[in-house]
Amino acid sequence: MATSARTLRTVSPVAAAIATPDHVSIKPQRMNLQFSSDTPRYWFDNDPVVTHFLNAMSLSFPDGERFFVDSVRQFRDRVEDPKRQKDISGFIGQEAMHSLEHTSFNRFLDTKGYAKLTKQAEKTARLLLKGAYIRFTTHEQLAATAALEHLTAILADALLRDDKTMASIHPGARALWMWHAIEETEHKAVAFDLYQDVDGRHAQRKFMLIAGTVFLAAYTGVFTWKFLKQDGMHKRPLVLARGLWKLFGRDGLVTRIVPDYLDFFRDDFHPWMHENSALIAKWRRQLDDIHEAQAA
Ligand SMILES: [Fe+2]
Ligand SMILES: [Fe+2]
Repeated sequence: MATSARTLRTVSPVAAAIATPDHVSIKPQRMNLQFSSDTPRYWFDNDPVVTHFLNAMSLSFPDGERFFVDSVRQFRDRVEDPKRQKDISGFIGQEAMHSLEHTSFNRFLDTKGYAKLTKQAEKTARLLLKGAYIRFTTHEQLAATAALEHLTAILADALLRDDKTMASIHPGARALWMWHAIEETEHKAVAFDLYQDVDGRHAQRKFMLIAGTVFLAAYTGVFTWKFLKQDGMHKRPLVLARGLWKLFGRDGLVTRIVPDYLDFFRDDFHPWMHENSALIAKWRRQLDDIHEAQAA
């Protein structure tokens, strides 16, 4: 049964005292996922709009996550605490694995006839990020990473919090999204905590969330549309309306994250204000079951 999006949420007025819980460990795991041709074209709830929205996001991940790693790596020597150093290593390892597995997934999209489009989307992501490397200072890059990690963390929460949402993902793609969402939750505070150490200006990280959201929304919107157009779905108003409702309607995948999204604009924000570590344990067990079933 779906748990209410707000039930596990506690907000402390003393954000500075909040940290990654001790029972949350940040360890990279190579999944070596294979995406079979049996996985349907519309792997999310048989829905073209939501599937392509997530496909577009996946196409931004390999380069996006390399940007996150670079922006954290250039400041890691500022951290003396061995536990925090270990968490930073875990973060870098996890993001590197996400890049690899999403690249495999993006190649699976090629096999469905989208090779030209995926190439274009990956090239666009690379160009946008090149602009960020050139135009932003290293502090701004880290602020952007802290902000975008907030976005990925709350999207991950939306996937993990509701059993029905996870069940909407075809088994052929479920392990990827489940595993990625779990690890985004585990390491959600690493870039934020580092940003607090090296800069900490609230206005800068808030601005980066707005800028990052605008860019990601434009990128995802454009490429979702291009996917739909290639399939001829852009002329199917009912398909479009149903998909948009699943994203932006009442309890839609995007609508659901809005309250948590806005918390980033609080000066006392910390990612673990949203204490959702119970979801990690729950879905890790499910992921182990998938592994065991595959090994059998
Ligand atoms: Fe990631
Ligand atoms: Fe991440």
